[in-house]
Amino acid sequence: MKNLFKTTGAALSLALLGGTAFADGHVDAAIKARQSQMQLYAFNLGALGAMAKGAVAYDAEAATAAASNLAAVAMLDQSMLWPAGSDSGAAKTRAKAEMWSNYPDVMAKGKALSDAAVAMQAAAGTDLDSLRGAMGAVGGACGACHKVYREPES
Ligand code: HEC
Repeated sequence: MKNLFKTTGAALSLALLGGTAFADGHVDAAIKARQSQMQLYAFNLGALGAMAKGAVAYDAEAATAAASNLAAVAMLDQSMLWPAGSDSGAAKTRAKAEMWSNYPDVMAKGKALSDAAVAMQAAAGTDLDSLRGAMGAVGGACGACHKVYREPES
């Protein structure tokens, strides 16, 4: 999994720094795809959060499935999802232009999420306390990136 992430990092840097190799339709499709990826994060994190809060009974199998999805989605190759010209100044998206100028920090925040998701994958099926213990790092990784690089909802 670490290797996959490395590949993702290298490929993402090409997309971010490589200029405008995408036609307009591809920019829209890329935005839709990355927003869908975020929705998959939210859905699976939501399932874990509901158990952590006690809103849903703890179920080791369901928790493991949600955590595994989270980790898998965090490992996806994102090289085509963040093309130049797909920031909020140029397109209908909430991704701030700062993402493209702070590339190493974006990658660090992405890695923080994949590390936290891998830790959650190990914890989620152990017991409810372990799941709860792993929640903060995952939620924190989402929030740390949104705080800096996502426009507020309009
Ligand atoms: C490395 C940065 C980063 C990380 C980590 C990250 N996000 Fe996001 N997220 C963004 C950006 C940027 C957007 C805006 C994307 C756009 O509009 O094109 C976004 C958008 C979203 C959206 C709105 C999607 C839509 O349909 O418009 C949701 C929901 C979301 N994120 C959930 C999450 C959750 C849950 C996590 C953690 C498990 C997470 N994100 C981790 C950067 C990040």
